[in-house]
Amino acid sequence: MKHHICPWRLAYLFDNPLRRLLHNPKKILGAYVHPGMTVLDLGCGMGFFSLALARLVGKEGAVFSVDLQEEMLQVLKKRALRAGVADRIQTHRSSPEDLGLTARVDFILAFWMVHEVPDRAKLFRQLKPLLRASGHLLIAEPKIHVSAEDFQEALDLAGGEGWRHIADVRVRFSRAAVLRVSPLYIA
Ligand SMILES: C[S@@+](CC[C@H](N)C(=O)[O-])C[C@H]1O[C@@H](n2cnc3c(N)ncnc32)[C@H](O)[C@@H]1O
Repeated sequence: MKHHICPWRLAYLFDNPLRRLLHNPKKILGAYVHPGMTVLDLGCGMGFFSLALARLVGKEGAVFSVDLQEEMLQVLKKRALRAGVADRIQTHRSSPEDLGLTARVDFILAFWMVHEVPDRAKLFRQLKPLLRASGHLLIAEPKIHVSAEDFQEALDLAGGEGWRHIADVRVRFSRAAVLRVSPLYIA
C-alpha cells in the first residue's frame, strides 16, 4: 500500500458544504462524543470533523486538532473563528515521526488518515496512552484507497498494540471501526 499525504489544496475537493450530506458528523460520532469531553481529531485536515466535534463537546469541552500540514491548520483556524468555536479548538502541528502530544482524551477520531501513515503499528502505539480507559478510537478509511484486506491489516496491527475492535460503523465510502484499549493493556 502506498502512503501518500493528501496535498492540502486537494482537501477542498472533499471538505466542502455538500459533504454533510454524505458524512453526517452527529450520526457518525454522536454515540461516542458528549458535552464536556476532551477529544482528539487526528489528521484533522481543514477541520470538517473538528468543527463538528467542537459543537458536540460544547462550551465545557475541548478539541485537539492535529495535522502534519500547517496549511490545513491555518484553514481550520479561520473556519473555527467563523463558526464561533475557536475557543474550544487547540491546533497542533505534528511531525511524521512523533505526534508530540501528552494530553489525555476521551475520544480519538482518525478519519481518512491512517492509510497515510507509513508505520501504522507505531501510530496505534502512540495513541494508546492518550486515551482514557473509558474512551473510544474511531477509524474510518476511504474505500477508494483502502481495500478490505488493508483495513483488516490495520485492525490486526492495532490488535497487536493492545487495541480491541468493538464495533463496525457505517460511514459512506468508508470502512470504519471503533476500538478501545484492551483492559490488559491499560497502564
Ligand atoms: C485525507 S485527509 C483527511 C482530513 C480529515 N480527517 C477529513 O476527514 O476531512 C488526511 C489528513 O491526515 C494528515 N496526516 C497524514 N499523516 C499524518 C500524521 N502522521 N499525523 C498527523 N496528520 C497526518 C494529512 O496531512 C491530511 O490532512
